[in-house]
Order: sequence, then structure tokens, then C-alpha cells
Amino acid sequence: MKYICILKILLIFMCVTLSDQQLNPVILIPGDGGSQLEAKLNKINVVHYICEKTTKDYFNIWLNMELLVPLVIDCWIDNVKLIYDNKTRTTRSPDGVSIRVSGYGSTETVEWLDPSHASTGAYFNDIVNTLVSLGHKRNITIRGAPYDFRKAPNENQDYFVKLKQLIEDTYKTNNNTPVMMVAHSMGGPMSLCFLNLQSQSWKDKYIARLITLSAVWGGSMKALKVYAIGDDLGSYVLRESVMRQEQITSPSLAWLLPSRLFWKPNEVLVQTEKKNYTIDDLQSFFKGISFPDGWEMRKDTEPYQLNFKSPGVEVHCLYGFNVSTVEKLYYKPGTWLDGYPVLLYGDGDGTVNRRSLEGCQHWQSMQKQKVYIKQLPGVDHLQILHDKSTLLYISSLIKHLRS
Ligand SMILES: *[C@@H]1O[C@H](CO)[C@@H](O)[C@H](O)[C@H]1NC(C)=O
Ligand SMILES: *[C@@H]1O[C@H](CO)[C@@H](O)[C@H](O)[C@H]1NC(C)=O
Ligand SMILES: *[C@@H]1O[C@H](CO)[C@@H](O)[C@H](O)[C@H]1NC(C)=O
Ligand SMILES: *[C@@H]1O[C@H](CO)[C@@H](O)[C@H](O)[C@H]1NC(C)=O
Repeated sequence: MKYICILKILLIFMCVTLSDQQLNPVILIPGDGGSQLEAKLNKINVVHYICEKTTKDYFNIWLNMELLVPLVIDCWIDNVKLIYDNKTRTTRSPDGVSIRVSGYGSTETVEWLDPSHASTGAYFNDIVNTLVSLGHKRNITIRGAPYDFRKAPNENQDYFVKLKQLIEDTYKTNNNTPVMMVAHSMGGPMSLCFLNLQSQSWKDKYIARLITLSAVWGGSMKALKVYAIGDDLGSYVLRESVMRQEQITSPSLAWLLPSRLFWKPNEVLVQTEKKNYTIDDLQSFFKGISFPDGWEMRKDTEPYQLNFKSPGVEVHCLYGFNVSTVEKLYYKPGTWLDGYPVLLYGDGDGTVNRRSLEGCQHWQSMQKQKVYIKQLPGVDHLQILHDKSTLLYISSLIKHLRS
């Protein structure tokens, strides 16, 4: 009798220690451009005779370097761009183009943006490798939750439903263990939007914590710069004016414009000889660059930017600073919005302005769950995914929870 009791106590003890060691599963939420996209074509019209009209199956299209070379890039733009309908206030692919997000639930397509694993497409790979070294398993305790990053939350409502399902499934398959969300860049506000759709009791049950890396809490002047002149994604082979043709068609870009919560109405964002543009003049800015749809998309997405309710879960907010970041566009006297501005720089992570990265600080007084802030001097927007201090922070968090 005595021995059975001791055995029972031992078993209970072992069970308790085992469940203590259960790692919180991880859900990866990528940022703008941070997942693979696949396309299938059945087009009647193409922009150039070298462009393919039809394909038998889906092929990788996002940041496939073979498709971003001169001439072929025109075909690429005509496949990846979105067409805005100002009546339904939604976007669609050009006729004959079908785009899908590949690999939902697995880590592969958010670890690498290029299926060939070219180093330029390395995304969540270092974070996943670090997690694996601590006992995590790809596709089981680490799941990827990619989405069509060209669209903003207003057109991603079904993603939020799928994400809830993925979190519940991952919780169950891991012995009812709450998950840890790890989000980068635009994945931060996507996660916030998602969490604010859930009840507090759901969050208490399913979410252990949210870790954000370089999250864009209050938009960025970089988005305005992209509308003005485009962005070459840091690659010498791409031309920003060419990339711009595709970039400005994404409603997510409008969602990432500077937020009224973080920019004052008297701050000049764009300076020209004739007129200065503040956050209150975006409509006239879009008119000035002959892209009135940009203003419509801003109106569609701004409510999602202004809803800045705290997430109601434990937060670890990591971001870089002390990297020069576009703060203002200055068009020299004698030039206009169709010219090329001088970029004036301020503090940030090279992509997102510091005030936006710091947005999470406000939650410290807005919720009872802890909000930890970790600033990383000199760490840039993408580098944060591979930076030693980030990997160390995540590792020590996991080890600490285990002990
Ligand atoms: C809506 O789109 C149509 C066709 O592109 C255009 O003529 C019209 O001016 C647009 N309306 C607004 C409010 O932007
Ligand atoms: C995870 O799933 C993806 C997609 O199904 C697959 O390509 C990959 O090999 C899987 N990884 C592991 C480690 O099972
Ligand atoms: C624009 O702003 C600058 C500095 O903020 C100011 O010096 C200039 O006079 C303004 N120009 C116009 C046209 O209002
Ligand atoms: C910011 O960068 C400058 C030079 O780029 C450096 O001298 C300074 O120490 C840095 N500040 C911090 C807080 O890292």
C-alpha cells in the first residue's frame, strides 16, 4: 500500500515536470512581402510578346529573381499587381491571373521567400533553426501563418478565421499548450488586429505571449515614399520606378501610411515650393501624384490603423533604432511631385520610423498583462530576424520558461 502511494506520487510528480517542459508552440506571422506567393495564368492579353499567357500549374512568383529581370519584369508586374474597384472597395488580380499563398501551416514558405533557398530570400529561417535547437519541431510545434500581404485587414477577414483555427489546432496537437505568436513588421499590426477580434477568455486560454520584431504600430513614412518614387527592395538590379507600378496597387501599402495617432497635424511630411503636405493633406497628395485610388484605399484601411486597443496578452516588443529612416520628402524649388525628392532622414530601423516602432510602449499602461520592450541599437528592419540579440532573447525566454 505504502509503495503504491509513493509510486502514485512519483507518477504525478513526473507528469507535472513533463507538462512543465512542454514548449509553447510557435506561430509565425510574416510581414509585408514575407511569404511565398504562387500564380497560375490563363490570360488572353499580355503586355509583351515574351510574357507567358497560360501555365499548366501554379508556379512561384513572389521575389522569384528570374522573373525580375528587364522585360520579364513587365510580365511579372502585370501578374502581381492588383486592380482596385472603387464600388466594391476591394481589389482583384488582372483577368486570367490566379494567385494563392502557399504552405499555410508549415514553416517552409515563411523561412524562405525563394523555394531555392537563395540567401536573399532568407526570412524566418534563423529563428526557426534557433527554435529547433531548443527542441522545437518544424510543422508541429512551429507553424507558419502566411497571408496575402498585398491586402490589408479589410480584405483579409478570412485569414483571421483561418489563423484562429490554426492556433486552436496547434494548441490541441501539443497537449493543450498555449501558443506563442512571433510576428515581424506588418505581421505585428496583423496580429494586433487578430487579437482584438478575440474574446479575453479565448486569448487567456490559447495565447501564451506575442513577440513582435520591428512591428509597424503606427505606419511609416517609407510607405509615402513608395507612393512617390517606389522602392527597389535594397537590390541594385531592381529599379524603384518599375517596382512602384506594382507596389502602389497593394491596399496594405495604404494601411502602412503614417498614422494620425503618431503624427501631429502640423508636421510637414512632403515639402514642395507651392504646397506643404501634412497628414491632413493625403487626399491632395494622391491627386498630385495622379493616383486617386491611393486615397480610396487609405479611407478603407485607416479604421484598422486607428483601432489601437492593447492586445490583452503578454507582449515582448523588440525593435531596432539609430538607423537612418525616411522622415520627410523634400522637392527642391522648381520641381513638383512628378520629380525626384530629396529624402530627409530621422531615427528608426531604416524602414519604420522610431515613433511607430515604439508604439507598443503605450500598452504598458493600457493592459494588465506585461509588456516588455527590447530596443536594439543599430539593428535594421530585416536584420532583426537574423540578429544575434534577437535569437538570444527568444532562446533565453524559452529556456527561462522551461526551468
Ligand atoms: C471610380 O473609378 C472610376 C473608373 O476608374 C472613375 O471614373 C471614378 O472617378 C472613380 N471614383 C472615385 C470616387 O474615385
Ligand atoms: C513541413 O511541411 C512542408 C509543406 O508540407 C514540407 O515541404 C516540409 O518538408 C515539412 N517539413 C518538415 C520538417 O516536415
Ligand atoms: C513649408 O514648410 C517649410 C518648413 O516647414 C516652410 O519654411 C515653408 O515656408 C512652407 N512652405 C509653404 C508653401 O507653406
Ligand atoms: C548611434 O549611431 C551613432 C553612429 O552611427 C553612434 O555613434 C552612436 O553611439 C549610436 N547610438 C546608440 C545609442 O547606439
